[in-house]
This record gives sequence, structure tokens and C-alpha cells, in this order.
Amino acid sequence: VRARIRSSTDVDRDRRDLAALYERTRSATEQLCAALSPEVCTAQSMPEASPVKWHLAHTSWFFETFVLAPHVPGYQPFHPDFGYLFNSYYNAIGERIARAERGLLARPTLEEVMSYRRHVDERMRECLARTRALDDAVVELGCHHEQQHQELILTDVKHLLSRDPLQPAFRAREAARRAARPAARAEFIAYDEGLHEIGHAGEGFAFDNESPRHRVFVHAFELADRPVTAGEFVEFITDHGYERPELWLSDGWDAVALHGWRAPLYWEKDGDRWMQFTLAGLRDVDPDEPACHVSYYEADAFARWAGARLPREAEWEIAARDLPIEGHFVESGELHPCATEAASERDRPRAMFGDVWEWTRSAYDAYPGYRPAEGALGEYNGKFMVNQMVLRGGSCASPRAHLRASYRNFFHPHARWQFSGIRLARDA
Ligand SMILES: [Fe+2]
Repeated sequence: VRARIRSSTDVDRDRRDLAALYERTRSATEQLCAALSPEVCTAQSMPEASPVKWHLAHTSWFFETFVLAPHVPGYQPFHPDFGYLFNSYYNAIGERIARAERGLLARPTLEEVMSYRRHVDERMRECLARTRALDDAVVELGCHHEQQHQELILTDVKHLLSRDPLQPAFRAREAARRAARPAARAEFIAYDEGLHEIGHAGEGFAFDNESPRHRVFVHAFELADRPVTAGEFVEFITDHGYERPELWLSDGWDAVALHGWRAPLYWEKDGDRWMQFTLAGLRDVDPDEPACHVSYYEADAFARWAGARLPREAEWEIAARDLPIEGHFVESGELHPCATEAASERDRPRAMFGDVWEWTRSAYDAYPGYRPAEGALGEYNGKFMVNQMVLRGGSCASPRAHLRASYRNFFHPHARWQFSGIRLARDA
């Protein structure tokens, strides 16, 4: 067996790739926010959603805290209070403002936050060019962390604008995109029972919650070849889906009563038309596009109504692992899920990546043998492994390069403000 020896040329090339990833990631965040006013960037619409300004600062704080402070001798933070303001949830790092109060940060101004970004960028560039001892894995983690926040910026700003009495658009929709494409008819694909491996394998970045790769026994199952459409969800509503207790989990039924849910988030009835708030403003619900902004409870109730169930995360991953990462991601500019078009036998199931995150019936838990990292970064994923459900596949707001078949997203079962949708499965 030939030992894998990395020459200094390899190391230099890896570092150049890492510096390029850093630049791409940081500028993508700023392009996303470029058209937003300081007022929009400061407001917060609910505790779960953060102001854009906070996202811009927090992602910089991440690099400052986990890369610059430990690796630049004598590094002084840009501002002594920013650790308190922009630490998200790292108890090992220290105290911080309550999440629900991030919208009270009239200061620092957006301009000051952008200066903070410039400062961190300059120091990061110096570090990436000169500091041999830098922990490249943490820089890479910081870039993937910032990509997660790019998606949160879109979902959080969508919630904020939806609560604005004037319901302004984040970005107007291009006329050329308005031709709706009919969704292809849904079919179930059969998978045999067997012993499989799931989890991250091999080269490339992955979060710690995707490891270790491990064996799972999966019973024979069937998976729908496309996500549930908005038109199908309208049928569920029309069939009194929200009023039939036999369709709902107990916590879901309570959530329906508590929140008065009668349709997905952002939907409203105008006469007999269903309208929805989108990042391009208010428009008709297109029956062919994937149903979106549903909680786990609604996804589960819909599946029961349809005589099916939600997939387990292992089933989802087995079906997705050999598919190319293709679909509608943030780069498409749609910022809304698109109808799933027909595909050849070989390319099924369709739309596994992009469009809508797909709720699975798997609780977010550690894989066998999982060990969180030592130190504060061990708080990144591990401490959230209770009371949340796994979603797979990414959405129309995810950067394409952020996704892979082993990727595990997770949210509380009542959460609706992410681009979350439904794919049905059945026992074979
Ligand atoms: Fe974060």
C-alpha cells in the first residue's frame, strides 16, 4: 500500500482552494443582501428568525472567534462587545443577548457591521496567505456555516416581509420565469430490503452529524418520485384535512388549535383563490409547484390522509446517494420551489435536491459512534440532538455547493418558515 504523502505543492493548492472558497462564500452573502435597506436589515419578526444585520455580523464573529483569535498571536477583537452581541449559542464562549432581542440592536449600524466584515476579511486573507499553522478544517467549517446563514437570511427576511402590512417583494420575479410548467404525475418507486451504509464517506466536507458512516437494515419501501404539489395540498384542505383529528399526531392537533393553522404558512384565501406570499411578493398558489412552508405535523397529517407516510432518513439517503446534485437552488434565482418536470426512468426520483427540504419521520439523533468535536465547536450540532426532526435534500434557497446526499438538516416539528415540503413513502 502506497502511503499518501502530501507535498508542499499539494498544501499550497489546498490553501488556494480554501482562500477561494472563503472569498466566494463571503461575497455571495453580501450579494444576497445588497439591495436591502438598513431598516430591513435591522428588524426581527419572531424569536426564531434573526435580523439580516445579525447574520452578517455573526458569520464574521464565527471566523474571528474560531480562526483569528486562536491563530493570530495577540489578536484583538474588532470590538469588545461584539462577542456578547453576535455569539449565537456557544455556552463555552460566554454570555450573549437573548435570541428574541437581536432585533433591538439599533447599534452597531449596518455600516459598522460591514466594516466588521471588511476587518475580518482582511485578517483572514493575511492568515490564509501566511499562517501555516491555521486549522484549515475550521476555515472550511466557517464557510459552510456561512452558507447555512445565507439560506437563513432568505427565510428570515421572507418572514419579516410577510409581516409587513405592505408585503413588499424581496426581489421582483423576472417575466421570463412566469411560464408555469405542469408537474409530472407522481409515481412510487420500489426499493428492495437490505443492509445499506449511510452517512458521509470519503473526500470532501461534511458536518460532524453526518458521521460515522454506518450500516442500517432497511425494509422494502416505496418512495414517491417527486414532492407533493400545492394542488394536492389544496385537496387535503378541501377534504377538511385540518379539521379531522384522526389524521393528526397529538402534538400536531394541539399545534393546529394553538396556531389556528388552516393552510401552509404564507397562504391566504382570496375568494376561492389561494394566494401566497413569496420573496417576489404576493401571487397565486400554482397547483403544480411543490407544497411548501409546512410543519412536520402538517406533512405527517397529509401523508396519513394520502394513505402513505413520510420517508425515514435512511430510505431518503439510499434513494438519493447515486443521483447528481441537480435542481433549483439559490443560484437559479427563483427563490421559490418550481414544478417538478417529467424525467427519464434513469433520473428518478426527481427533485430530491433543491426546491423544498423534505421532512423525514426520523428524529434528529446521533449516528452510532458519533463524537462531537472537542471544545466550543462541539456545540455546533451535537447539543441539538433532541426534539427535532431531520429534513433532507436542500431547497430553492440553499447554495448548491452546500448540499450532498448525506446532509442532515433539522428543525422543530412545528417550524414552518423554512422552505419545507413533503415527499411520500410507503411500506412495500
Ligand atoms: Fe451560526
